[in-house]
Amino acid sequence: MAERPVVIAVDGPAASGKGTLARRLAAHLGYAHLDTGLLYRAVGAAVVAGGGDPDDAGAAAGAARALTPADMAAPDEARLRTDAVADAAGRVAAHGAVRDVLFRFQRGFAEAPPGGAKGAVIDGRDIGTVICPDADAKIFVEAEVGVRAERRVKELRERGLDAIHARVLQDMKARDARDRSRSVAPLVPADDAFVLDTTALDADAAFAKALEFIAGRNK
Ligand code: CDP
Repeated sequence: MAERPVVIAVDGPAASGKGTLARRLAAHLGYAHLDTGLLYRAVGAAVVAGGGDPDDAGAAAGAARALTPADMAAPDEARLRTDAVADAAGRVAAHGAVRDVLFRFQRGFAEAPPGGAKGAVIDGRDIGTVICPDADAKIFVEAEVGVRAERRVKELRERGLDAIHARVLQDMKARDARDRSRSVAPLVPADDAFVLDTTALDADAAFAKALEFIAGRNK
């Protein structure tokens, strides 16, 4: 029988560096990478584009059900990485019905990573707690909110978008509060997660620490 794919769960709040870390780990290990935030962003963007309210559970679940496997496998990143879409994503993500629809795709990715990869690195908010509680390694990436807001401003400006620090910080605090306090799948480290604080670490240092942790798990 084929060996079960290795699963590495990378969770954490907005702009903590989890996406960069997950992409680098996947490239280094030869595993497939899934950014689950893009799935929630796709649902939020679809609701708004249709003139609906992301706080409306019925509209949000309808938009989630309408996403095709092709939409989920290849989301339109350039269109989805704005802060307006992030806000809509944070709202639709609070509905259990939306999370149920997206659960199957995420679990399927972990069980059979595309391209026949031997493993998957999956980043999000609830990967180590809800989607893959049996993951081989769980990393929870944190950073002080002011530092995260600075990183997001830089990222938005690099993509040619307007970004005002005070506004980004305010939006990030609101989204963090919603993600941490929602009743379904709140953002919290799994009991067995390695908590990696990147407040004072650059991407290279965070990558090195995460690799060291993963290597230690394989001993
Ligand atoms: O890039 P950033 O960290 O700002 O956000 P993201 O990872 O793209 O996620 C956008 C929003 O989707 C988050 O604020 C969460 O509310 C939601 N989300 C979630 O609930 N569960 C996930 N596994 C991933 C994202």
